[in-house]
Amino acid sequence: MATPHNQAERGQIAESILLPGDPLRARFIAEHFLEEAQCFNQVRNMLGYTGFYKGKRISVMGTGMGCPSIGIYSHELIHEYGVKNLIRVGSCGSIQEPVKVGDLIMAMGACTDGNYAHQYGLPGTYSATASYELLARAVKEAGDRKFPYEVGNVLSSDLFYTETPEWKQWARMGLLSIEMESYALYCNASRAGVRALGIFTVSDSIVTGEALSAAERQTGFTSMMEVALETAAAFTD
Ligand code: HPA
Repeated sequence: MATPHNQAERGQIAESILLPGDPLRARFIAEHFLEEAQCFNQVRNMLGYTGFYKGKRISVMGTGMGCPSIGIYSHELIHEYGVKNLIRVGSCGSIQEPVKVGDLIMAMGACTDGNYAHQYGLPGTYSATASYELLARAVKEAGDRKFPYEVGNVLSSDLFYTETPEWKQWARMGLLSIEMESYALYCNASRAGVRALGIFTVSDSIVTGEALSAAERQTGFTSMMEVALETAAAFTD
């Protein structure tokens, strides 16, 4: 049973999925980290694959950028394909001086400058949080490997280019970094009673203007993938 955005049949997608923003990243992950990977989606070039990691069946699919895009794909993954564990793997920009490029960030919570939660008709402001189970496992995996990581709140912004810099006010609330998708992912997962987590490599510092070199980007990416895959595998039968 395909959707307008995903041609997969039910059963072709594993119960645990990694979600990079870039569909070519999804292909790279499938080709370099999964065994026997099969492509399940090509609609809008939003490539998705299912394969095996250490014998556990795991999927990976691009989400596109921003809350509307990951909102669509994750909603279908949860409600049409029965996915139970959704782990976003991405990059983010640091808004705290001590949070260095190359560090891993695990988003315990996500804030937004958008309106994604408006749909729920809540009489207040929704605080979007990660699955504690996935988060605790990811923290353990990163700690065991001595990867540099921070756990905290992030901003899922609707804006990449802004007329006025809004990051300083968010930084004063203790947020670690900015990305663009976790708030919607956490809302969809919480609403459906499934697990979600966002893990990021800090690709640039909005505070200092520093950015990762290509080699550093690869190292950070590989560390993030190890943490994400081990966490996904731990929650997969
Ligand atoms: N803003 C939003 N998303 C990002 C950034 C940023 O500065 N850096 C990496 N992902």
